[in-house]
Amino acid sequence: MAYDLLKGKRGIIFGALDNSSIAWKVAEKAHEEGATFTLSNAPIAMRMGEINKLGEQCGAEIIPADATSIEDLENLINKSTEVLGGKIDFILHSIGMSPNVRKGRDYGNLNYDWFQKSLDVSALSFHKVMQTAEKLDAMNEWGSILALSYIAAQRTFPDYSDMAQAKAVLESIARSYGYRMGRSKKVRVNTISQSPTMTTAGSGVPGFDLFFKYGQDMSPLGNADGESCADYCVAMFSDLTRMVTMQNLMHDGGFSTSGITHEILEQLK
Ligand code: NAI
Repeated sequence: MAYDLLKGKRGIIFGALDNSSIAWKVAEKAHEEGATFTLSNAPIAMRMGEINKLGEQCGAEIIPADATSIEDLENLINKSTEVLGGKIDFILHSIGMSPNVRKGRDYGNLNYDWFQKSLDVSALSFHKVMQTAEKLDAMNEWGSILALSYIAAQRTFPDYSDMAQAKAVLESIARSYGYRMGRSKKVRVNTISQSPTMTTAGSGVPGFDLFFKYGQDMSPLGNADGESCADYCVAMFSDLTRMVTMQNLMHDGGFSTSGITHEILEQLK
């Protein structure tokens, strides 16, 4: 059911790769709620062509951008304000990639060039998006900017590797830039820390199926799925959450504050 929560709002959604992507589901819900937006992804990801279907479905223009390239981001933000006919009200950063995870490097044998790539793609890109939007004066007052994080920023999960550091940096950038954007533009900046979700990025982590099952059994509500994450993102872009900023918001069915659950106890018997 739609409530017109984003009626009249303009946005940029990064990171829809295929219909399992969290960003894909956010785009569908934002469209249902009356928003207009552009879709962006790395030029290499466009080759799969899946995003074109989403563009058609949502009436959204697709503008490629490598989120680590300032030039690409300037082009994207300028074109988006042009195509959408005004400044931006919301941005979703739904981007993550670690070459070390992808190539199965052990945490004690990391390739440091790849480590820097993980940080650049998964964390610094969030700063770059906001700095570029600020320099171009592209955000509307009372806008909302979100990135997606994972609890490995606070707690150790074997095999999440250097993505844990990337998420810690990402969450810290949300606080520092949230302060700045709040003062200058009344724009709020938050991260949503999402349960394990069956997507391309998620299932790239070794042992993901077990991660997923553990999350399911350790959360009184079970894992939050991509659809419910999209609902939360829409709520965070809407005017109903205007005073929430500089937060890492747990969207995890209760995982982060559960000590142990009956499901896990049963398995230990
Ligand atoms: P996904 O694989 O569908 O999305 C990741 C996106 O990042 C892809 O669309 C990819 O093309 C894009 N990307 C990679 N490098 C890029 C670059 N240089 N420039 C622009 N885009 C680039 O997977 P998912 O799960 O939807 O990931 C979205 C976000 O959610 C990521 O930040 C991820 O870490 C986060 N997250 C995912 C969880 C999961 O279990 N799937 C759990 C918690 C957070």
